[in-house]
Amino acid sequence: MNVNVAILAAGLGTRMRSRRAKVLHRAGGLTLVEHVIEAARGVAPPDRMVVVTGHQAERVERQLAPLGVRFARQPQPRGTGDALACCRPLLEGEAGGLLMVLYGDTPLLSAATLLRLRDEQAKSDAAATLITTTLDDPSGYGRVLVDSAGNATMIVEDKACTPEQKRIRVINSGIYCFRADLLWRYLGEIRPDPVSGEVYLTDMAAILTARGHRVRVMHLDDPRELLGINTRVELAEADRILRARKARELMLSGVTIEGPETVWIDARVRVGMDTVIEPSVRLLGDTEIGEDCRIGAGAIIESSRLGAGVWVKPYTLISESTVEPRAEIGPFARLRMDAQIGQEARVGNFVEVKKSRLGAGAKSQHLAYLGDARIGERVNVGAGTITCNYDGERKHQTEIGDGAFIGSNATLVAPVRIGEASYVGAGSVITEAVPDGALALGRGRQVVKQGWVAKKRGRSGDPPPE
Ligand code: UD1
Ligand code: CA
Repeated sequence: MNVNVAILAAGLGTRMRSRRAKVLHRAGGLTLVEHVIEAARGVAPPDRMVVVTGHQAERVERQLAPLGVRFARQPQPRGTGDALACCRPLLEGEAGGLLMVLYGDTPLLSAATLLRLRDEQAKSDAAATLITTTLDDPSGYGRVLVDSAGNATMIVEDKACTPEQKRIRVINSGIYCFRADLLWRYLGEIRPDPVSGEVYLTDMAAILTARGHRVRVMHLDDPRELLGINTRVELAEADRILRARKARELMLSGVTIEGPETVWIDARVRVGMDTVIEPSVRLLGDTEIGEDCRIGAGAIIESSRLGAGVWVKPYTLISESTVEPRAEIGPFARLRMDAQIGQEARVGNFVEVKKSRLGAGAKSQHLAYLGDARIGERVNVGAGTITCNYDGERKHQTEIGDGAFIGSNATLVAPVRIGEASYVGAGSVITEAVPDGALALGRGRQVVKQGWVAKKRGRSGDPPPE
């Protein structure tokens, strides 16, 4: 049976107190609405999903366009019923199947639950099935009134509840599966709420019932999936749950996580088997980490790719970079903006690498800045080496051939090329090319004055300098 999905994401999100649209706030490394789309993939491909946008529509659409979903615009936030009506031109033509309606602010929803909802609706003769749960504190949610047969007859919004209705703890999750033909036939019958002026989709329960149809209830015992995010307090709660879920999923797939409650792993991150993640690590964006790696405590890795057997030592920052198998990075190292570290290379403490490649087996173990450089295989970069890549206007390249040895505290003024298997003496300032196999020295020659101290003392009678 055809299933289309409408995701309502046009609201203002007033209770977030934010300039940013609510559905664009992030939890677990994705925007709220991206999580909803992710769950909806369980029942429909993205081209069968319509996201209703309105508030900050361009920003929301820009964020979601790469996922392949379609969009409908709601010109004014006139309520959830009005928002759904905006999908009519895109979806009504396919009245044969089911229409699942989701809200863009329920990020904990799982694909399994939506599949169950689809199946329950498909096998029933009801006009719709809606997901409910029972909450200790139902405030803020619509309350669901059920008849003796267990069908929903009416949903009353929190604001409109009588004191007696307020005590009902069965709430509307905002997740529905409608028979599309009946939905489109009756959607226009919803009247604006006399107080708020909004068109509440929840009125469909009473309308369908009045028209002689049944609205079934699918009750979930565990309410956690259904948390709707209206405030930043709820946002933090969703974030915590999503991260715990991600850590658990990785552990079950063979990743050791020491202190899973302390790590921070975004939804799209992939980690290979037998990798060990130490406490307080953050793995962000679309990072991919190979098998048998060790990620040291406090490391932050964003949008980067690490091969198998890489050892990232504590307090290392890696962003938008690539590390090839068995390389060792850190502690306290920083790779950024397309640093590429070759196999078994080593980058040690207080070394910053930017837009540079370090060949296989190369080493830069202490205190260096390597920017805009191509560094060959097995090169040894001494402590304190600096590539002077910027002349105040433009960036320039440094090239270091395979097997070269750069002495400590060398200053390489780019553009410059250091030949293969050459040596640069410690403390040199190198401004000209060094041929293959040469030794380059670019520093003041040491002068030794024998007996200088005694002579100075004889002249002035001063005590010798200490
Ligand atoms: C809604 C339900 C409530 C349910 C709760 C579950 C209605 C009237 N109420 O309340 O019964 O218990 O969700 O979380 O549906 N939106 C639009 N256009 C609008 C208004 C809202 O697209 O004009 C979108 C919002 O972006 C949001 C979703 O619809 O993603 C829900 O809106 P929200 O204002 O959060 O509804 P609630 O008051 O939480
Ligand atoms: Ca809500």
